[in-house]
Amino acid sequence: MISLSASESSTATTGAAAAAPPSKVGPYVPDAPLAVKVENVSVTYRTTFERTPTLKTAIVRLGRGERAVREVQALKGVSFEVPVGTSLGIVGANGAGKSTLVRTLGGILPPTSGRIEVHGRISALLALGVGFNPNLSGIENVVLGGLANGLTRAQVRERADEIADFAELGEFMELPIRTYSSGMRSRLAFAVSVHMDPDILMIDEALSAGDAKFKQKAAAKMQDLMSTARAMFLVSHALGSIKELCNHAIWLHKGELMMQGTPDEVTAAYTKFLQVGEDAFSLEDL
Ligand SMILES: Nc1ncnc2c1ncn2[C@@H]1O[C@H](COP(=O)(O)OP(=O)(O)O)[C@@H](O)[C@H]1O
Ligand SMILES: [Mg+2]
Repeated sequence: MISLSASESSTATTGAAAAAPPSKVGPYVPDAPLAVKVENVSVTYRTTFERTPTLKTAIVRLGRGERAVREVQALKGVSFEVPVGTSLGIVGANGAGKSTLVRTLGGILPPTSGRIEVHGRISALLALGVGFNPNLSGIENVVLGGLANGLTRAQVRERADEIADFAELGEFMELPIRTYSSGMRSRLAFAVSVHMDPDILMIDEALSAGDAKFKQKAAAKMQDLMSTARAMFLVSHALGSIKELCNHAIWLHKGELMMQGTPDEVTAAYTKFLQVGEDAFSLEDL
């Protein structure tokens, strides 16, 4: 009897461990104090461009440039709240407004209208290390990034080695970033962001470029950070990562908030939408 239940429980444990590794991401607590509040936020990009003249209009206008304005409403009245302890997954097709949302939350892009409250220091890891200076070496960018994030010179010196180790760049750390592959750039961007003691960590598709081994290491680091960070935002097309690393999720579509809920609910609804949606999605959109 006892031995049977022992073997049963050990089988059950092994089975569970294989299906879902023990997650350090705690539960989503809806009534915890807020880390971030997004209220009716809209972002409109206005791009002016020189209309390419046809031969005829070029002759008619005799070289006078004609400026056209293209407006894109990237976010349309988006509202949601992020309580402390939330690891928020953000899903949606290309052009849905995910990166715009992350840039706006990170204070890089002001909302056109609406309000954002952020309680804590944000470290935004933007897609593939936007913000790096391509002509400076990896180590120089690390120092600049650290100082820009409010670390002291001593703290930066202390962490530079740790960052270089984590990014696994070896002597490439001494070379200009323009010589890096996109995978190397994203490894460095990830390493910098997670070593800045962020209160709120935002990761925009940065893990998609790494190899499988680095992705695993990055996921483990993110789970570690969740025990100290106030909140985390993860934009990813890898719905498995969203389910593994997040305890809440939102789905954006064409600038609108379609749904929020548990990662299982949201990824299931999104997947179903992709399969039956009237819009034709290309592989790239997935
Ligand atoms: N800097 C920009 N200038 C003009 N339009 C932009 C800019 N960045 C993004 N957009 C447009 O805003 C929309 C949302 O883009 P984005 O936030 O990058 O979506 P996602 O990250 O979900 O793919 C898209 O239509 C895109 O073309
Ligand atoms: Mg994007």
